[in-house]
Amino acid sequence: MKIAWQPDLLLVAVAGGRVVGTAMVGYEGHRGWINYLAVDPDVQRQGVGPQILEHAGHRLADLGCVKVQLMVRTENRRVIGFYEALGYVEEPVVAMGKRLSAVPRPFIIEPALRDHAR
Ligand SMILES: CC(C)(COP(=O)(O)OP(=O)(O)OC[C@H]1O[C@@H](n2cnc3c(N)ncnc32)[C@H](O)[C@@H]1OP(=O)(O)O)[C@@H](O)C(=O)NCCC(=O)NCCS
Repeated sequence: MKIAWQPDLLLVAVAGGRVVGTAMVGYEGHRGWINYLAVDPDVQRQGVGPQILEHAGHRLADLGCVKVQLMVRTENRRVIGFYEALGYVEEPVVAMGKRLSAVPRPFIIEPALRDHAR
């Protein structure tokens, strides 16, 4: 669960006592990531999304992160204009993924750094 991993980066926007937006932010030491940004349809187009992204940027910068990235589902391309209005640019990358449950586990690969430390 996200709440058990970098809980300070699980952002919840509250207004008038109710949740109006969320984002799952992540940082692995190289890039910051924004996942699942969403604003309650009742309060969209009122600047909540940009506020969440700005807050995420501050949190990531405090951790030493210098670049934030995010992925947009191809069927959700209409949202790209929103990000572009906030200074995000489309990058020439193809995102690839694989469910780890499908990976066979014949042996354990130790972290490379552990060997170097000896
Ligand atoms: C995308 C989303 C988070 C935006 O949040 P929001 O709070 O409604 O953002 P706002 O509309 O207030 O955005 C601020 C600015 O972006 C602009 N904007 C919003 N959508 C836009 C679009 N599709 N194209 C161009 N500009 C857009 C707004 O005009 C506004 O600019 P302005 O203040 O100068 O008028 C929200 O629409 C949402 O939750 N969508 C469903 C979930 C989703 O698709 N999330 C993204 C996953 S990658």
